[in-house]
Amino acid sequence: VSKSKVTVVGSGNWGSVAAKLIASNAIKLPSFHDEVRMWVFEEVLPNGEKLTDVINKTNENVKYLPGIKLGRNVVADPDLENAVKEANMLVFVTPHQFMDGICKKLDGKITGNVEAISLVKGMEVKKEGPCMISSLISKQLGINCCVLMGANIANEIAVEKFSEATVGYKGSREIVETWVQLFSTPYFMVTPVHDVEGVELCGTLKNVVAIAAGFVDGLEMGNNTKAAIMRIGLREMKALSKLLFPSVKDSTFFESCGVADVITTCLGGRNRRVAEAFAKSGGKRSFDELEAEMLQGQKLQGVSTAREVYEVLNHCGWLEMFPLFSTVHQICTGRLQPEAIVQYRENKL
Ligand code: NAD
Ligand code: 13P
Repeated sequence: VSKSKVTVVGSGNWGSVAAKLIASNAIKLPSFHDEVRMWVFEEVLPNGEKLTDVINKTNENVKYLPGIKLGRNVVADPDLENAVKEANMLVFVTPHQFMDGICKKLDGKITGNVEAISLVKGMEVKKEGPCMISSLISKQLGINCCVLMGANIANEIAVEKFSEATVGYKGSREIVETWVQLFSTPYFMVTPVHDVEGVELCGTLKNVVAIAAGFVDGLEMGNNTKAAIMRIGLREMKALSKLLFPSVKDSTFFESCGVADVITTCLGGRNRRVAEAFAKSGGKRSFDELEAEMLQGQKLQGVSTAREVYEVLNHCGWLEMFPLFSTVHQICTGRLQPEAIVQYRENKL
């Protein structure tokens, strides 16, 4: 039986941790090749060295995950086409705004029996409406694509603190078992759920709720308000997911990808942190400026997702049904003050 070969497309904060998790299993399990390739968006570090060279020399992603060894079987590769060439299992994990370009570059380059999984939290909005990243991958590359989402702050998993994750899949159970095997460790417990759209929409929409939670923190509104924002946010997540895909299951929102990710992101995520600083500035500093200053190259997903969600709601005539989602976007763009996050009427979902 031939062994599976895995390539991780992406090498940011979560991308690097995903590579570490996968590498620790690939080296142990006989059904996988030891080597795990990791595509790196090349950049030159302040000391003049290339990030890829430093990763391969030190076994650390010194920019996006400093201080953590990735595993000697991780090989960084700056050439996207070369990195995916021999792989039959592709793990996509980049900020969502880069996925369209990556899929275009890979168009026609993926041949044979290849499976994919997306760890990307976000969506694209096309003329026809919203397009989830797993569908973008599936359609553009002609391959099946599962998703892995969950309450997964990368820096905590990097130091092997226990957490759970959800793999969303459709179709046969066989391939999902392989993904579960590839990611599972004693500190990373993965549960498969037959609801790819529900799992991916949870991961995507919770980033908008996290921005709202950051506003509440910046305005020092306290725990009850933040809990209310999480509850209303979860309710809007569920309602929008079901409007977009009626097959989405209620039970998905109780998995790690649902309620647990809302909680962890609203407590400790990057979207929350930058939104807090935005509200503290009274909305005077821009998210772009704060992101560059606070995250050292890491990227926020919540602000662009709020815009994308707003476009969908506006297009479908659903704005009034989703006051939290639409208010977040209007605050991000300066049309409303951060205080507006609690100044809307209860909706009729
Ligand atoms: P990140 O925000 O840490 O890093 C940004 C990455 O984008 C870097 O690898 C950088 O090299 C790359 N990049 C910059 N410009 C680029 C370009 N033009 N084209 C392609 N790549 C470019 O990334 P991350 O944390 O790995 O996030 C990836 C996805 O994982 C996101 O959807 C995020 O929501 C999700 N996620 C993140 C975490 C976390 O805790 N970090 C946890 C769960 C899910
Ligand atoms: P942030 O991007 O807000 O840090 O969220 C990370 C995450 O998705 C945790 O599950």
